[in-house]
Amino acid sequence: MSIRPVRIYGDPALRTRAAEVGAPDETLRGLVQDLRDTMKAYSGVGLAANQVGVLHRVFVVDVPLDDEERAAFALVDPVIVSRSGSQRAEEGCLSIPGVWEDVTRSRVVRITGLDEFGKPVEIEADGYLARAIQHEVDHLDGVLFVDRLMPLRRQFLKRQLEALARGELPEDYQPPAGGEPC
Ligand code: NI
Repeated sequence: MSIRPVRIYGDPALRTRAAEVGAPDETLRGLVQDLRDTMKAYSGVGLAANQVGVLHRVFVVDVPLDDEERAAFALVDPVIVSRSGSQRAEEGCLSIPGVWEDVTRSRVVRITGLDEFGKPVEIEADGYLARAIQHEVDHLDGVLFVDRLMPLRRQFLKRQLEALARGELPEDYQPPAGGEPC
């Protein structure tokens, strides 16, 4: 297991469409474990492979459904096959530290893909989980949540995003302790 450094806004891997995996192998399962470890270390609810600089279509999520239950899984080669409704809520991204903005997304999504062992899965998600899934699938397409804001809002964030792209992290930014650069 290892914690990988999360790529920050401005990194080309965040702007590249990740490639289909096909058949998950041991290497892919190692990547999934690292994504889980990294997501946990950064206290995230989701992480896509692009965010650690790996251009394979796989993400992990760990989203609270209510006070007791969480949805935690990896999805390989995910495809959103249907969407309905709409929801608007605040989003953030481990790759865009310091930026939190309201984003409109579908309320319900049905998604297909493979688990990390290659077994086909189909999931219907709503609410927070649906939001996280759409955010992570966007990552695999090289799309970031700030792309989905109204133009005026994006304009407002321009300097902040340019600063991130220059490598200037927010003053209170704390990468997790114990991270191993790789
Ligand atoms: Ni993100």
